[in-house]
Amino acid sequence: MNDPEYTAVLANVVKHFKSGPVLVRAVDGVSLQLPRGKMVALRGPSGCGKSTLLNLFGALDRPDSGDIVVDGIDVGRLKGGDEVDYRRRKVGFVFQMFNLMPSLTALENVMLPMELAGGMGPAARKQKAESLLERVKLAPDRYTRRPTRLSGGEQQRVAIARALANDPALILADEPTANLDSTTGGQVISLLRRLADDKRTVVVATHDNSIAQKADVVISMSDGKLMGKWAEEDSEAESARVSS
Ligand SMILES: Nc1ncnc2c1ncn2[C@@H]1O[C@H](COP(=O)(O)OP(=O)(O)O)[C@@H](O)[C@H]1O
Ligand SMILES: [Mg+2]
Repeated sequence: MNDPEYTAVLANVVKHFKSGPVLVRAVDGVSLQLPRGKMVALRGPSGCGKSTLLNLFGALDRPDSGDIVVDGIDVGRLKGGDEVDYRRRKVGFVFQMFNLMPSLTALENVMLPMELAGGMGPAARKQKAESLLERVKLAPDRYTRRPTRLSGGEQQRVAIARALANDPALILADEPTANLDSTTGGQVISLLRRLADDKRTVVVATHDNSIAQKADVVISMSDGKLMGKWAEEDSEAESARVSS
């Protein structure tokens, strides 16, 4: 199934963790459709399952049951290294702690995913990385700096450029503004907003109300379940509203 209208479709996705004798229902029967080219905010209290859900989208973790289809790929059933390939080509991750490679410059951090995916020569990689850094408005004199010599906001810009390196179908951002002051955080949100305006699909897990305000769709989670209209069986009305 490669639905042109939706980047991702989840049906009855379950991921539970055993913590000693306790069963934690981190993701507990989630069904949703992510419309293409939209910014989706995933909200809910700490521990409600936001990161687990993003990890499932990104094949960093595997569901116990249910279906996850991203850009026509049956993500929950990837194996034999296909999940590595999927992560490199189809998703871009942006993390709370930026997670750049400390030994590489800003430019090299953005070039790395292209190198891992293969198929581009060094000159083409450099040119593309420069254009991505330009797009996230990193000052050119920062391109050759390592992460320790960049501010938090600058590091997150580099991380967003890196997430775009292989033109992914889906950008997954897990609390991307949690370690930034509100002005810098606002700039990062505007960048993510612009990605959606450029027809990318962006999912942002967040506590930050200003992100939800900029999002096209807000999904609320509680105890591993979706709340409100997303919890209903028929989400067509919402999808229609979103895509109109
Ligand atoms: N690897 C894991 N092992 C055991 N429990 C986990 C693991 N990952 C997450 N959990 C639990 O699953 C629940 C959801 O966690 P998480 O997805 O990180 O929530 P959020 O990102 O919304 O704060 C929490 O109760 C958390 O402790
Ligand atoms: Mg989390």
